Amino acid sequence: MKIKTPKTDSTLKIYLEEKRTLVEKNLLRLLGPSGEYPLTLYQSMHYSLFAGGKRIRPILAIAASEAVGGMTEAVIPVAIAVEMIHTYSLIHDDLPAMDNDDIRRGKPANHRAFGEATAILAGDALLTTAFTLLADQSLWDNIPSDRVLQIIHEVGLGAGPCGMVGGQQLDLESEGKRISINAIEQMHIKKTGALIRASIRSGGIAGGATETQLLALTDYSERIGLAFQIADDILDVEGSVEETGKSTGKDVSQNKNTYPALIGLGESKLLEKRLVNEAIEAIEEFDEKADSLRRIAEYVVERTR
Ligand code: IPE
Ligand code: IPE
Ligand code: MG
Ligand code: MG
Ligand code: MG
Repeated sequence: MKIKTPKTDSTLKIYLEEKRTLVEKNLLRLLGPSGEYPLTLYQSMHYSLFAGGKRIRPILAIAASEAVGGMTEAVIPVAIAVEMIHTYSLIHDDLPAMDNDDIRRGKPANHRAFGEATAILAGDALLTTAFTLLADQSLWDNIPSDRVLQIIHEVGLGAGPCGMVGGQQLDLESEGKRISINAIEQMHIKKTGALIRASIRSGGIAGGATETQLLALTDYSERIGLAFQIADDILDVEGSVEETGKSTGKDVSQNKNTYPALIGLGESKLLEKRLVNEAIEAIEEFDEKADSLRRIAEYVVERTR
């Protein structure tokens, strides 16, 4: 069944812009100035965190909270934490020992600007700061502490060995080898899907989702998470450095396992569209407060960066 979605590009553009500004304002407020001691470490953290970026994970957390009637402000600690963790994952992903990439978010990769040792430490620092902020009671606005604990657990699962870090390991181990479609799906679900799932579920939990709502948000998040990485694989083939802000064509040259490499571009595009439709179906019981989630679902595969 094809569910009707609100088709207003400009509404989504305004929404994304507004939330991005909110997220960046709070990132700056909660990370503190780049002039802290040790200076190079803070400069390096700031460099990658404020190099641009779509901020899609925090925006999804906010949209999930709004979908269940939560207040936008209540979800700020989640939003900030998932963006810090994501930025750390990008810094480490670009290291010579991993994808060996020189451009990220339209600028020299962190290790190109600060050296490998500082890039590793800036990643570590962003990861630990994310959890320090999540566990800071003063940042939570009237959210019961058992819910905060549940969110910390969610984010930890999404970021760690059974989530993003595990997926990165599978990605590196399978470089240069042919793996099955099931194996690539598992890898994508972990390396990219898990943090997106955690962002949406945590946003829902912060917003006070019921059990039923949380299950629907989980279904939505799993489809969107997988679709997001398939879209990333496609952009590596079809996108440009100017638009994506990172080098393209590198998955083929590094013999990475991607959907286009395994099933071709056409099939990959059909699959991502099917996942988007399923994601929208998963939240069909939600009212118009979930329209942003519906619009973002389409954006995930239509984006050019
Ligand atoms: C890129 O993520 C890496 C993946 C997990 C696919 P994004 O496409 O969200 O990158 P930014 O945050 O906008 O730079
Ligand atoms: C990265 O996947 C996933 C992460 C957890 C960072 P990619 O290696 O394909 O991401 P890009 O293309 O470098 O952004
Ligand atoms: Mg990678
Ligand atoms: Mg990479
Ligand atoms: Mg990629």
